[in-house]
Amino acid sequence: MTRLSNKVAIVTGGAQGIGKAIATRLAGEGAAVALADIQDTVAAQTAQELRAGGATVLPVHLDVTSLDSATAAVERVVAEFGGLDILVNNAGWDKLEPFIQSTPATWDKVIAINFRGVIHCCKAAIPRMLERGAGKIVSIASDAGRVGSSGEAVYSGCKAAIIGFSKTLARELARNRINVNVVCPGPTETALLHGVMDQQPNVLEAMKRGIPMRRLGQPQDLAGAVAFLASSDADYVTGQVISVSGGLTMVG
Ligand SMILES: NC(=O)c1ccc[n+]([C@@H]2O[C@H](COP(=O)([O-])OP(=O)(O)OC[C@H]3O[C@@H](n4cnc5c(N)ncnc54)[C@H](O)[C@@H]3O)[C@@H](O)[C@H]2O)c1
Repeated sequence: MTRLSNKVAIVTGGAQGIGKAIATRLAGEGAAVALADIQDTVAAQTAQELRAGGATVLPVHLDVTSLDSATAAVERVVAEFGGLDILVNNAGWDKLEPFIQSTPATWDKVIAINFRGVIHCCKAAIPRMLERGAGKIVSIASDAGRVGSSGEAVYSGCKAAIIGFSKTLARELARNRINVNVVCPGPTETALLHGVMDQQPNVLEAMKRGIPMRRLGQPQDLAGAVAFLASSDADYVTGQVISVSGGLTMVG
């Protein structure tokens, strides 16, 4: 598959989990991919693994909570690969707890990573896409942002905010040939899910029963939708939200 030949992509949070699966797929379709992550060692290991399979990848340090860090990461990628075509905003973090027990320190961290992170990376990446005369931005939100999710109030708010933000960018940038779309995973087996759910096995079982396909998502399940939206097959698709969640949510 070479749908993304000669394209340069940044995947935030690309070191592991869903981001790693997306990076693997984009590289497999021919893109040069930056694994932009706060975990430098894990990103370096993942880069080594993907290179062994023939991929062109670059581990890049990124803390999405800082606009300066986002700008530096984009500039590093442009210096290495000569431009930027695709941004996948995937980095995210959550802590499962009832809203009434949550604290401002947790809200600040959740908002900084999940919402401001997307804003920072878009701000840093869009000027480089304007230079190219085209671009694709795909942000990973969550079904929590479409229908809510108990124990994830502020996180759900951030994910809903990503949807409104992306639709607005899609309108502002359509004539610049920059497409902006959102992919919403449902519960997907990653370190993040196990980190928030392992103390609550009953909740995980109940989740599976609520999914029409009766299984949790796997990171690779997300990769195809993102690759499509990052490709020229989606040139006439913008401002859209697609759930990849085994039918968990069906939003009209
Ligand atoms: N796993 C799920 O069930 C699920 C469900 C819905 C949405 N999502 C979303 O999918 C995305 C990926 O989640 P995942 O499950 O693969 O999680 P994960 O914890 O396995 O991976 C997240 C990655 O983001 C990176 N990251 C965290 N903070 C960062 C920062 N400040 N700067 C740069 N990188 C940072 C981490 O180092 C990690 O590599 C997230 O946006 C998450 O909210 C996940």
